[in-house]
Amino acid sequence: MTEAASLTSALAALLGQAIARAGGWLPFDRFMALALYAPGLGYYANGSRQFGLLPQSGSDFATAPEMSPLFGRALAVQVADALRATGTDEVWEFGAGSGALAAQLLEALGSPVRRYTIVDLSGTLRARQRETLDRYGERVQWVSELPARLAGVIVGNEVLDAMPVKLLVRTGGVWHERGVAIGQDGLFFADRPTGLRPPLDPGGAHDYLTEIHPQAQAFVRTLADRLERGAAFFIDYGFTEREYYHPQRHMGTLMCHRAHQADTDPLRDVGRKDITAHVDFSGLALAAQEAGLATLGFASQARFLLNCGLAAQLAQAPLAERIAGQRLVHEHEMGELFKVIGFHAGPFWDAVGFRDGDRTPTL
Ligand SMILES: C[S@@+](CC[C@H](N)C(=O)[O-])C[C@H]1O[C@@H](n2cnc3c(N)ncnc32)[C@H](O)[C@@H]1O
Repeated sequence: MTEAASLTSALAALLGQAIARAGGWLPFDRFMALALYAPGLGYYANGSRQFGLLPQSGSDFATAPEMSPLFGRALAVQVADALRATGTDEVWEFGAGSGALAAQLLEALGSPVRRYTIVDLSGTLRARQRETLDRYGERVQWVSELPARLAGVIVGNEVLDAMPVKLLVRTGGVWHERGVAIGQDGLFFADRPTGLRPPLDPGGAHDYLTEIHPQAQAFVRTLADRLERGAAFFIDYGFTEREYYHPQRHMGTLMCHRAHQADTDPLRDVGRKDITAHVDFSGLALAAQEAGLATLGFASQARFLLNCGLAAQLAQAPLAERIAGQRLVHEHEMGELFKVIGFHAGPFWDAVGFRDGDRTPTL
């Protein structure tokens, strides 16, 4: 058996045990957590290549910092502004992937950053980050838990979409929670009636599949509890609540990525592909606000990066870099689907990234 096949069968055995222990039905969010993060076996924990520009590199998808260093350089303008405005000197990054964004930020920010701390669930990625960031020595550190109190500027690119979601299905006018069961032919979806509801009623009587995001909301509540002074910026694909739970979005947003191909079947090739869902930015902002973290701004990625001076950087960049950099802002690529949300603990200030095109009122 190849190494990949034995990892897959070990993960299948683990899932089988988890389903049996749960009485034959595992809520989808618990399935997703194991599929992505089971130590040594889940997609983010088993040494898969994940990030890269082309399938030939063995990678599955491209993220903005992998696509162009101009992403980190532009984000650094906002981070520097936030460090100044909040009087802090530490950067915290969640879900640092290959370490590419950390390297771009450290390079651009220089000495105002006394310490750069990475929190990542994946042990194999932590090892890869250490290699990328070796030259920054002890300024970079890794922690597996947040301290009780922290002050600084937090960043996270495509980390919220990687947090497990619950699936809700309305069939015949009745809401069900979708879970995973196992039979002779392997894993299958099983739906159970539930009292859970999407935060906004999508209306109509048609069958409707969607996601809710208790884990991402719990994550931002924890941040709100711990962040004494500072700001947080999350970049990800997603929508406001009204767009997310639109009557026409009846197939949800759950998506898998492997070898730069997308598919909608998370029960196939488990552990060998990424599983993601779009972010509900309204729910996130509400959870943060209820826990004491106010919204600083909300903008499309294009607006945010242009506010941070990306246009001038593109104008000076060599042609190949300019072409890659433009993908960050083109509407049909990452410019419009990706959004940036900022939070602040401490007084509000007019943050550079949201100066033009702030959409906070639409949340
Ligand atoms: C899609 S990757 C993005 C990686 C990187 N930020 C980039 O843009 O290339 C998601 C990352 O989030 C990490 N992750 C997921 N949930 C996390 C959590 N609760 N805390 C910290 N890291 C998390 C994963 O291990 C992985 O590194």
